[in-house]
Amino acid sequence: MAAARRPGRLRGAPENFLDAGQIAAVQAGRRDFLKNAFALAAAGAATGAAAQQGDPAILELPEHSKALGQPVAARGYGEPSRFEKNLQRRESPGLTRVSGASVSFTPLQGLFGIITPSGLHFERHHQGWWDIDPTRHRLMVMGLVQQARVYTLDDLMRLPAVSRMHFIECGANTGMEWGNVAVPTVQYTHGMLSCCEFTGVLLSTLLDHCGVDRKRGKYVLAEGADGSSLTRTIAMERALDDVMVAWAMNGEMLRPENGYPLRLVAPGLQGVSWVKWLRRLKVGDEPFGTKDEVLHYVDLMPDGTLRQYTSIQECKSVITSPSGGQTLLDKGYYNVTGLAWSGRGRVKRVDVSFDGGRNWRTASLEGPLLAKCLARFNIGWNWDGSPAILQSRAIDETGYVQPKINQLRAVRGTRSIYHNNAIQSWKVDAGGEVTNAQVY
Ligand code: MTE
Repeated sequence: MAAARRPGRLRGAPENFLDAGQIAAVQAGRRDFLKNAFALAAAGAATGAAAQQGDPAILELPEHSKALGQPVAARGYGEPSRFEKNLQRRESPGLTRVSGASVSFTPLQGLFGIITPSGLHFERHHQGWWDIDPTRHRLMVMGLVQQARVYTLDDLMRLPAVSRMHFIECGANTGMEWGNVAVPTVQYTHGMLSCCEFTGVLLSTLLDHCGVDRKRGKYVLAEGADGSSLTRTIAMERALDDVMVAWAMNGEMLRPENGYPLRLVAPGLQGVSWVKWLRRLKVGDEPFGTKDEVLHYVDLMPDGTLRQYTSIQECKSVITSPSGGQTLLDKGYYNVTGLAWSGRGRVKRVDVSFDGGRNWRTASLEGPLLAKCLARFNIGWNWDGSPAILQSRAIDETGYVQPKINQLRAVRGTRSIYHNNAIQSWKVDAGGEVTNAQVY
């Protein structure tokens, strides 16, 4: 079980998927890279062997061990190593007609733990993003409240604040896979998913500050300040539970593309309810029924009806490494790792199968295990070099079990876009190539 035998960071998966030829070219390039990396790592792990194999360069003391390094604060705001430049959010070409109304996907295959670095948080805009001057931004709270108020950011930051870790998943995540296998990597199948620590004021605190009418007020409408005037209705019960008006993400102010200076954080609810550039909250006694909830983000059912107001992201998981587009270097031990989450609370268990769902083993869950937050799982696997199908299946604290794709299709049909939380399959062929597959 030498470290060098592990896939290590099986990154560098083909990132942009235009056609099969390009994919093959990138895969071939990566395979070479990994094999070279493997050779070097093996040499480094056994320097005696390296010397015997006539590679004296590996024994020379490198420049960075002999000379003075760079001065502090060379870069006022730190950036990743130049060797990590390939880890990027990426668009799926042709997904939307206009890139202002598009998606950039988080590279889940290259991340560790549960926190998404701010610069790799996925983006989904209906009408492009803005870098809004915070001194000119206002939030109005109105409707069934004793006193309607208009807040500046400074006003809000004087109220009692909380910091919470939560995942956000777009309702359209994995939406391309309803009919068949559509995209090759986990970045594109599941990358409309991120998880951060958010800081802000609880909506309950804010509504109470305005004297919300808790008897008559049954719903809250949240509205964004961008050109789409995106609006979503949130049930009061949920609004008073754990919804936040946040100004910070991962310890710093929100990034412009993620809603700077204010966004709604609606734990467990689909991403569209996390209204960015938040400018208005209105309390009402019935659902507001805006375009973004009666026409968009609805589920087309097999009988042709539209299911509206689906909001909670059900329990789901995915193996992030090894995953589509990666290549196993050799037979032997691999740490299989992935993410699990549930909009209804904590993840209780994750099972992993290596034979397409015939046998399951329970993976270990890394702490902290928080409600409506990503959970990282790990499990060891000895690959014997024969074809395999890797799957993960999550179970949340309510007892809900992540469904197979055919179970989901039996209820939902194949013409939906949203809310696909099916078990993901990755096929490993005898050459170690990992591809996206569907197992029924
Ligand atoms: N809020 C506004 N004002 N405008 C938008 O286009 N997109 C929504 C939601 N909030 C959107 C918005 C959708 S569909 C999603 S999935 C999430 O923001 C994405 O948040 P992110 O871009 O920070 O990942």
